[in-house]
Amino acid sequence: MAATRNSILDDPFYQPADKFFPANSKIGLTFDDITLATLYSEILPRDTQLDTALAEKLRLHIPVISADMDTVTESRMAIAMALNGGLGLIHYNMPERQQLSEVSRVKNHVHGLIQEPIKVSPDELIGDVLAMIEQKKFAFGTFPVVDENGKLVGLLSGHVVKPRYAKLKVSEALTPRSQVHTILQKELGKDPIARADKFFTERLGIHKLLVVDDKDKLCGLITLSDVERITLERAAQFKPARDANFHLVCGAAVSATRNAFGELDKQRILEHVGGLVERGVDVVAVSTAHGHTKGVGDTVKVLRDAFPKLPIIAGNVTSAAGVEFLADCGADAIKVGQGPGSICTTRMVAGVGIPQMTALYVCSRAAAKKKVTILADGGITKSGDIVKALTLSSAVICGGIFAGCNEAPGDVVEISGKLYKQYRGMGSLAAMRTGSAARYGHEKNPTQKVAAEGIEALKEACGSVDRVLAQLIGGIQSGMGYLGAKNLEQLREKARYIRVSPAGMREAAPHDVVELKTGS
Ligand code: XMP
Repeated sequence: MAATRNSILDDPFYQPADKFFPANSKIGLTFDDITLATLYSEILPRDTQLDTALAEKLRLHIPVISADMDTVTESRMAIAMALNGGLGLIHYNMPERQQLSEVSRVKNHVHGLIQEPIKVSPDELIGDVLAMIEQKKFAFGTFPVVDENGKLVGLLSGHVVKPRYAKLKVSEALTPRSQVHTILQKELGKDPIARADKFFTERLGIHKLLVVDDKDKLCGLITLSDVERITLERAAQFKPARDANFHLVCGAAVSATRNAFGELDKQRILEHVGGLVERGVDVVAVSTAHGHTKGVGDTVKVLRDAFPKLPIIAGNVTSAAGVEFLADCGADAIKVGQGPGSICTTRMVAGVGIPQMTALYVCSRAAAKKKVTILADGGITKSGDIVKALTLSSAVICGGIFAGCNEAPGDVVEISGKLYKQYRGMGSLAAMRTGSAARYGHEKNPTQKVAAEGIEALKEACGSVDRVLAQLIGGIQSGMGYLGAKNLEQLREKARYIRVSPAGMREAAPHDVVELKTGS
């Protein structure tokens, strides 16, 4: 019979985590310092399962979370993440009321129904509409027309949004209300996509269906192309991450807020999280740069007491003691990562932080004892890093990888013919001034004396989250196939590691060729 098991000849070289990391305990290792060894496999990448449980009541279909950063996750990103089976953590650099409505947007999202379509008013000129399309870089040109009360007046078709009609008023060019296809919101039923699908099949050549309420106010738009895409997606391997009521899952970050006297403002924290819970939030993340602190511990305790069933993420830590502390305070999932992020300067500024794979190993062993999960937060630049991180954690949190996506907040800017989006650290001075100072233990309006722990940067625009995730997921599945792991639990059990020399790392990337096309 062919040998399908490990050979003892491999053992001195390719070691499981509990041998490899203690043997390398004198040095901090990160993703590129190690590589994973292959194992006998009967698993095809496409047959691997990526489901993960972050807490008893929080399960995802892919182990990927978008970071709670103000240039990464608001409702649009959180919706896209959940639709792909993952999770978005809405950042807290905004007024609390706004964060509540961002959460509501995710929880009330009906896939395929654009709930807040871009509208135009009858008095605008076609030239104004063209300028808006140019400025906002919209890829579409048809707009519902509404009056000042939000009542539907007609539809401005893309066929007339042309420079030759620039001087015409929208009211002179629109398709009138009587000829616009609409459906009453209450008639959409439980499966709006199936209803819209039927509608489009029955009306040859119609591509847009406007949704109105009893008073003829516009409350949504469904397009044929979205319906067709969703119908295709329903057969996809990874289902959207939903709660028990079939709503998309959504997380929100909260801070360990202090009052004017510097004491933890427990009342305010409880009111804030109470509001989030009312809106249906599935998990809150007490997000700070240093989670092994009294302030974060007390915040987690207060929340655990007040909301016994609410999944709580807390962090960040890089030590077993930090994990044990937060677990004892009541956290279910603990963010691991201090300084690995692409925009982080904590290690340079404060001289503190641990390379990510070593931190994950140390924390994972404490987490297993405490029966909590850990999330690998920061430093992920490619799918291979995710595979390595998932050998020790239950999910990864990514900022930079998603910051260039259409769904990230902020506009696209063009520089020398290339398109970019802004990406900044939550510890950058600009972000701290907008609200994230508490995350770094500073006052709300930091003065010049505060040292920033993050930078402001740009990321190349990279299209939709769907596209980016498809690449990442493909890579994770590939890695699991190489290790013969059919699910994430097996990946954690089977992983064997070896250190890589700088030359080995160079060998791992394309080399000695003129690259014509990148892998993605
Ligand atoms: P990536 O590598 O995905 O990292 O861009 C995102 C993670 O970085 C953390 N973060 C920061 N860390 N200074 C830091 O030291 C900062 O200004 C900063 N902003 C974000 C955070 O954990 C995030 O998920």
